[in-house]
Amino acid sequence: MTQDEMKQRVAEAALEYVEAGTIIGVGTGSTANKFIDALAGIKDSIRGTVASSEATAERLRGHGIPVLDLNDALAEVERLSVYVDGADEFDPGRNLTKGGGGALTREKITAAASRRFVCIVDETKRVEHLGGFPLPIEVIPMARELVAAKARGLGGEPALREGFTTDNGNIILDVHGLVIRDPLALEDELNSVPGVVTNGIFAHQKADIILMGTASGVERL
Ligand code: A5P
Repeated sequence: MTQDEMKQRVAEAALEYVEAGTIIGVGTGSTANKFIDALAGIKDSIRGTVASSEATAERLRGHGIPVLDLNDALAEVERLSVYVDGADEFDPGRNLTKGGGGALTREKITAAASRRFVCIVDETKRVEHLGGFPLPIEVIPMARELVAAKARGLGGEPALREGFTTDNGNIILDVHGLVIRDPLALEDELNSVPGVVTNGIFAHQKADIILMGTASGVERL
């Protein structure tokens, strides 16, 4: 089975976690796109969605799926019922790195606003320790060198994502070479640097359920 087919299977398996009549959060990326396409088949059963990026909002609307502003949604319901999204890596504790597509901040906000986070991945994303995938940090442009120096001090090699601006108007630093043994502590340490909007470690917002596509089918972790 190809990686693409594994992504397709987990995307379809995630439909089981979509509760009728609720507002759900929708992630960003190639796996999330397959989920959006599958969601189109049951769109009349949900009240609406909150999108984690402009690209996701556009794809949802293209299918005729209602997209709500998060603040409007939270005026109607206490929490979104579920957040469905992919990841760049996951570890045995269900901690994630995300942000390969640059949508990490809105993804983290939407995950935090949801009762549970169902993460849809293929088996290539499984790691023992996070950090093999360069860790994205969304940074207010003025703070670029301040945050880069902090990343170097932690043993990483930051690289500016050239020609990229986030949906929030900021830059991304991708930090190479980190071995993340304590995801919670590193998430907090990086987020405490002035100018960091957020970083791509999802330890506070780790997955509640991981659906992993393998050559032999979908495993629930
Ligand atoms: C988007 O910013 C990312 O967090 C994605 O969720 C992550 O990169 C996974 O993307 P794929 O499903 O395309 O691998």
